[in-house]
Amino acid sequence: MALTDQVTDVLNKQINAEFYSSYLYLTFADYYEDRGLKGFANWYMIQAKEEMDHALAIRRYLLDNDFTPTMEAIAKPDKTFGSDIEPLEAGLEHEEYVTSLIHHCYEVAHEAHDVRTMKFLDWFVSEQGEEETNARDMTTNMKLFGCDPKGLYDLDREYQARVYTQMTALPL
Ligand code: FEO
Repeated sequence: MALTDQVTDVLNKQINAEFYSSYLYLTFADYYEDRGLKGFANWYMIQAKEEMDHALAIRRYLLDNDFTPTMEAIAKPDKTFGSDIEPLEAGLEHEEYVTSLIHHCYEVAHEAHDVRTMKFLDWFVSEQGEEETNARDMTTNMKLFGCDPKGLYDLDREYQARVYTQMTALPL
């Protein structure tokens, strides 16, 4: 069964949103590199790679459903940061926004009675829940411990330990 134009349109837009997320998180990593917080930089570099995986998974889904996606221009992230907590707060706000986009994709699929796409999007719905939790925890940790040099050092060490593993839940 072919995907409807509405479903392919919204998923194509989501590819772009995921690439933008990747781009945005690269700028977060750049900020923390500049600050000498290589653990925070590592965490966001890995996040940037995960976001690219999300984009590629949606691309693969469209291709596997006989639709060739269009790679649109990616917007320039324009935020500048004046303190170490600002990227974390911007990250939480961004993930809440991406959750709303994913939910919209789900609603469009639901309206089209497109059970296959709804099932595909299930993974993204869960992932967004996890990403919001991570972003919220990082903001809370920074508020609690980041004001003290030893606390900041320990957080940076913790985020240095994050390791990238390529997405396996969906084909890329
Ligand atoms: Fe793939 Fe966090 O949006």
